[in-house]
Amino acid sequence: MSTPHIDAVLGDFAPVVLMPGDPRRAAYIAEEHLAESRQVTDVRNAIGFTGSYEGIPISVMPSGMGMPSAAIYITELYRSFEVETIIRIGTAGAFSPELDLRDMVAASNCITNSRMPEYLLGGPDYDLLPTPSLLATAADVANEHGVELHQGTVFSTDIFYEPDDTLNDRMIGDGVLCVEMETAALYALAETERKRALSLVTISDHLITGSRMTPEERQSTLDQMISFSLKVAIKEAAIIG
Ligand code: HPA
Repeated sequence: MSTPHIDAVLGDFAPVVLMPGDPRRAAYIAEEHLAESRQVTDVRNAIGFTGSYEGIPISVMPSGMGMPSAAIYITELYRSFEVETIIRIGTAGAFSPELDLRDMVAASNCITNSRMPEYLLGGPDYDLLPTPSLLATAADVANEHGVELHQGTVFSTDIFYEPDDTLNDRMIGDGVLCVEMETAALYALAETERKRALSLVTISDHLITGSRMTPEERQSTLDQMISFSLKVAIKEAAIIG
């Protein structure tokens, strides 16, 4: 049955969904990386696709920008379309001097300035964590393919244009690797809905050095992350069976 934001029927989505932020990126993944892909929904231009990778069904659904948007799609996928696993594939701004542009980070922990997790999880004492076995799968795939995968704490913010210019230093001091805008919602909802989740981000800009990826770098980095996440997705599909 359709939901308010996804015009599809049960069976249209695979159990494992890749979730970029940008709808055009979802279309690109489906067209360039999946076999036999078909569009399954287009409400508000949030275009979702299902196809296959190495014979395994995989879906792609965009989150839009920020936790309120992401939470709508995540909740509807988990609750109404029998989606078991959502793997976010996004970009982030780096705080850590140890990260360079194009580096890939698996969010093994998440902090946030959003009230959403506290509200969803029923109080201020919560952890925002990926599904441990899914994080382990990502680490295995990275080892097998010689891909460097950083792991650490990601800051999910509600505010892109941060007014507090002491924030960067505090994040560096606390060992936070990078900032993005969706992971906290994904991890909180995976917990409340008893589902599985992992957030993978590549560094698109460095908040300390001020460097940014060129459009060409963005594209090739994106292809690298898509290939990596698809390998993780098919292993995950075999695990959840
Ligand atoms: N802030 C928040 N989200 C982001 C950033 C940033 O600097 N870069 C990529 N996603």
